[in-house]
Amino acid sequence: MSDIEKKLRRLEMERVEKDRLKRIMDKDLVETVEQVFDRMTLLALYELVNDRVIEVMHGVVSQGKEARVYWAEDPQGKDLAVKIYYTATAEFKKGMLKYIEGDPRFRRVRRSTRHLIYLWCSKEFRNLKTAYEAGVKVPKPIRSNKNILVMEFISSSMERGKPAPLIKDAPPEDPDKALDIILNYIYVLYNKAELVHADLSEYNIMNRDEELYIIDWGSAVRIEHPHADEFLLRDIKNVTRFFSKLGVQTPDPVKVYEWVIEGS
Ligand SMILES: Nc1ncnc2c1ncn2[C@@H]1O[C@H](COP(=O)(O)OP(=O)(O)OP(=O)(O)O)[C@@H](O)[C@H]1O
Ligand SMILES: [Mg+2]
Repeated sequence: MSDIEKKLRRLEMERVEKDRLKRIMDKDLVETVEQVFDRMTLLALYELVNDRVIEVMHGVVSQGKEARVYWAEDPQGKDLAVKIYYTATAEFKKGMLKYIEGDPRFRRVRRSTRHLIYLWCSKEFRNLKTAYEAGVKVPKPIRSNKNILVMEFISSSMERGKPAPLIKDAPPEDPDKALDIILNYIYVLYNKAELVHADLSEYNIMNRDEELYIIDWGSAVRIEHPHADEFLLRDIKNVTRFFSKLGVQTPDPVKVYEWVIEGS
């Protein structure tokens, strides 16, 4: 193929892709998505559309340092949360390695930033699935593809397409009971799912009408991880610190830690 033919073909492909984007997104969103994400990410998104996982993308609900979360809909009209990781952040890579190295599941993996991010995303998906199956309340995982994670949308009861608030902004009405529930989740997670969340705090717990959902599972590690116990104690301390500020007589974090690791 000549260079000109190649160029024409590429332009044609870009036009086709742009049309596809327009079909699943509104105009403003197409522009922001194109600016923020690379072609591989857009292709991964089309695959999810072709596989009928996603029907339409609505707006961004959160723009973090590492990922954006979108409100989307499936072909049946059910709300979805689509978390898309940025693929080019060196800082993120440094922070992430700590959770991946030492985990037997990731002994043999490619170390390019892009592949690490794909790995991170699939790890978040697997962690969600394990936690979900163990009965911990989390958004139901639906699919992961490259740097895109699709899950159930935990919406506010006030407005469709708006996430339920985090407990830092909407503290539980019965904080004693809420603390009990969270500590039990930590226990079940460790003893049944054999996971430690490792980034648990009031920033990663949503409150939907007094039902608490734990989100943001990328950092979670298996209990064999060399730092699992350190992460576990940190999670417990974060949680008890938050609830003691709400006036709860919280137990000693070390006691809770011992209760968790000793099992039933
Ligand atoms: N399943 C979901 N349903 C509804 N909203 C969600 C869902 N998952 C995440 N969100 C929204 O996106 C925000 C960020 O999600 P998450 O904590 O998983 O990402 P993050 O990488 O930690 O982002 P940040 O850097 O902003 O903390 C949440 O605080 C919540 O508002
Ligand atoms: Mg978070």
